[in-house]
Amino acid sequence: MTETSVPIGVVTVSDRASRGLYEDKGGPGIVAALSELVASPWHPVARVIADERALIAETLIALADAERCPLILTTGGTGPAPRDVTPEATEAVSDKLMPGFGELMRAVSLKAVPTAILSRQTAGIRGCSLIVNLPGKPSAIRECLDAVMPAIPYCIDLIGGPRLETNPAHCIAFRPKGA
Ligand code: MTE
Repeated sequence: MTETSVPIGVVTVSDRASRGLYEDKGGPGIVAALSELVASPWHPVARVIADERALIAETLIALADAERCPLILTTGGTGPAPRDVTPEATEAVSDKLMPGFGELMRAVSLKAVPTAILSRQTAGIRGCSLIVNLPGKPSAIRECLDAVMPAIPYCIDLIGGPRLETNPAHCIAFRPKGA
């Protein structure tokens, strides 16, 4: 039996990238990181959208409910600037929040830059989907994903998603004994 490919949502939230004023580096950065970290067959469902709260919410809902992505990663819009509203949109569409993700990502990022505390990144569950906010900077994407990835497969197990295997050369997923 062939394993079905898992759709993973990759959402770049950026006014300038969505207008084509600069090349999107965040989305491809997430795809490159996942290519190393995830061993199960998967494919990206990518979107590049403006920093508009309603549009971000609508996109997250579509990726969760229609595209059935068990994991949705966003990049950008987590800072304090007036147009940074990705965490608000994530909270608005989530059934429950997963604050541990933001806490860990900020703690890890703080070792690299003091401005890590400016990111309000969070995570939440919508139905059978886990939504995780990553900062906009490509190097920050990798640092943050490396930190939280070991816990993501078990989280997806718990919300009724597909079993996701990681590539042990880059990430050892943790599942409690017997899971
Ligand atoms: N995290 C890491 N690991 N490395 C970084 O350089 N930059 C910070 C923070 N988190 C940074 C980081 C800065 S300067 C900001 S403003 C916030 O992420 C928010 O970025 P965003 O609005 O692009 O999401």
